[in-house]
Amino acid sequence: MRSLPEPWRVKVVEKIQLLPREERVRLLIEGGFSLFKIPSEAVFIDLFTDSGTSAMSDWQWAGMMQGDEAYAGARNFFNLKQSIEDVFGFHHFLPVHQGRVAENLLFSTLLTRPGMIIPNNSHFDTTRANIEMNHGVALDLVIAEGKDPAKLHPFKGNMDLGRLRELFLERCEDIPVCMLTLTNNSGGGQPVSLANVRATSELCREFGIPFYIDACRFAENAWFIKQREAGQENRPVAEIVREIFSYADGCTMSAKKDGLANIGGFLASRDEGLLEVLTQRLIVIEGFPTYGGLAGRDLEAVARGLREVLDENYLRYRVGQVEAFGRRLTELGIPIMQPTGGHAVYIDARKLLPHIPPLEFPAQALSVALYREGGIRGVEIGSVMFGSEDPVTGAPIPAPMELIRLAIPRRVFSNSHLEYVAEVLEQIRDQREELRGFRMTYAPKVLRHFTARFEEIEAPVLEEALA
Ligand SMILES: Cc1ncc(COP(=O)(O)O)c(C=O)c1O
Repeated sequence: MRSLPEPWRVKVVEKIQLLPREERVRLLIEGGFSLFKIPSEAVFIDLFTDSGTSAMSDWQWAGMMQGDEAYAGARNFFNLKQSIEDVFGFHHFLPVHQGRVAENLLFSTLLTRPGMIIPNNSHFDTTRANIEMNHGVALDLVIAEGKDPAKLHPFKGNMDLGRLRELFLERCEDIPVCMLTLTNNSGGGQPVSLANVRATSELCREFGIPFYIDACRFAENAWFIKQREAGQENRPVAEIVREIFSYADGCTMSAKKDGLANIGGFLASRDEGLLEVLTQRLIVIEGFPTYGGLAGRDLEAVARGLREVLDENYLRYRVGQVEAFGRRLTELGIPIMQPTGGHAVYIDARKLLPHIPPLEFPAQALSVALYREGGIRGVEIGSVMFGSEDPVTGAPIPAPMELIRLAIPRRVFSNSHLEYVAEVLEQIRDQREELRGFRMTYAPKVLRHFTARFEEIEAPVLEEALA
């Protein structure tokens, strides 16, 4: 049977344009080859992120008109509270303007002394930064399959329970909370199985460690569970979601993903004492706890988005679109992380560009080429983002993988936009030997990929190349 097209029709359109190639080259040079420096209007197909880039529905926009902008007790707060209760089963939460504030609140409070450890399948970059800025250690314990881009496994986001147990046995008193990220963004948007969520939760209970979920892509993860986990195929996604969160003591949420909103987030917890402490901090950094740095209308968009995202026709299309795009790239011989995750296709730049060593940032080279050749913006998830330094010698250490993420915004691009991206990648594939590595000319200590600048490494002169 043919797959169904988009389960919506278009009511409003937004113009995009492809600038001439010379103009794109000029912008790259001016911006130090940082894709963060390219103005959005100079990007044709923006696959930089799926975060905050969703197209909202008519129902959400209608809700925006019903924003109650009162300082305290806005009706939209109560609508959001009801949605969070219905969707996740949490009765207490604090709204925040985006996910990283929930992380900031949690870790600045729970990390009470240097060297405390927060395990996760894989920490997202802001999660890691919020832990490290509070002198904690962010530990990634995803299963081995999750680190091999070519390995096929239905739940590559799973926590390695053996290593987690070992860690708990050795350092239990230094672990204030254990996290699990659904889906595992830094590990390729790969899902976590329901069994693994349950087992992680049980292990945490055994050692008395609170268990929190990074819930950004909870609905996509639940869809994968329904598709891939034995015994789950006939359950409504909404029911799977309720079960996942019944195992958690709380969650951090960026509603810019599966909240289908352009801004917003929250921190939910069953620990009312903790929320009371965090409320004081929230008032200082975000605002009164019934708005948490958001306008009433934004609270409403999230309240509605959280319900809407559970529509299984939507989820089937959404995850299916990403999968079909991945399949097309594979047909073209572009190596991608297998299987495709929920929100993005990750190209394995190390494999596509074996002539560029990891410390010359092959994934950065590929993202520059995508913009130069097709006005397409993706994001490097490799040694620029996750490279580190040897603590003794200061020598640079490459990241375990060199990926470029092409994130697909929700309900924004059609399949023909993605076909165009595939064609540009086909062209790059044919000219790949011409691509060169990059040298970083500026890099701040924390979250360096946001503001780093680069220069292209010159091609070796012919005699050198032949020597
Ligand atoms: C897994 C994960 N956690 C946390 C965040 C942070 O959310 P925000 O960008 O809303 O601060 C993101 C954002 O992309 C994410 O993907």
